[in-house]
Amino acid sequence: MKNKFIVLEGIDGCGKGTQIKKIHNFIFELDKRNEIFTTREPTYGKYGKQVREILKKDKCPLKNSELLLKLYTKDRKEHLEIIEKIMSRKTGDINHFVLCDRYYHSTYAYQQTQGISFDRIHEMQKNFLKPDITFIIDLNPELAYSRMSDGRTSKEKFEKLEFMEELRKNFLKLKNKLNENIHIIDGSKSKSEVFEQIIKVLKENSIFL
Ligand code: TYD
Repeated sequence: MKNKFIVLEGIDGCGKGTQIKKIHNFIFELDKRNEIFTTREPTYGKYGKQVREILKKDKCPLKNSELLLKLYTKDRKEHLEIIEKIMSRKTGDINHFVLCDRYYHSTYAYQQTQGISFDRIHEMQKNFLKPDITFIIDLNPELAYSRMSDGRTSKEKFEKLEFMEELRKNFLKLKNKLNENIHIIDGSKSKSEVFEQIIKVLKENSIFL
């Protein structure tokens, strides 16, 4: 069994967080030899912390695009030191999984929506480790927006409806633009239906073999 790198992506409020926990639990139960490193970007490392500071302060979604592009990329470089170590482990019977909440697809989608060109982003991301499989949980931004509003009054930098509409389109375009294993999942379905859809695709792609 080869080690597997799985990524979940989508606009804010698409339900990634719930699904990643479900996938984690599923893999953990599936085989006692499975070891899973479940992680996220931005991280809480030094660059990830700088990103979060900017996200807290900025109100305009288009501001600080260049700075954010650099910080997300540096954060990823640091994160990959851990991910690559796990992915290169050969420990007999043990199956290693890296499960990541957001990866470079978020940079392509968000920073493009901020106005940076695909080619420029691609130049900075193209040499990073490719996931074995990526799920983009697709959801109508209005629905995502209303889900995010539950219990919250203030909105984060990127949580503006117009920005999210464009963001969704940029996420969907990635399937054809990047030459890799990307699957679009309908996030408007119930949590268990979305999960079943993801597990079905993981099985079809021999991720558990
Ligand atoms: P998010 O997943 O919301 O982090 P958390 O839930 O831990 O606060 O990520 C923060 C924001 O950063 C989110 O709006 C998406 C955005 N983002 C980018 O713009 N580019 C990137 O490369 C990444 C990884 C995230």
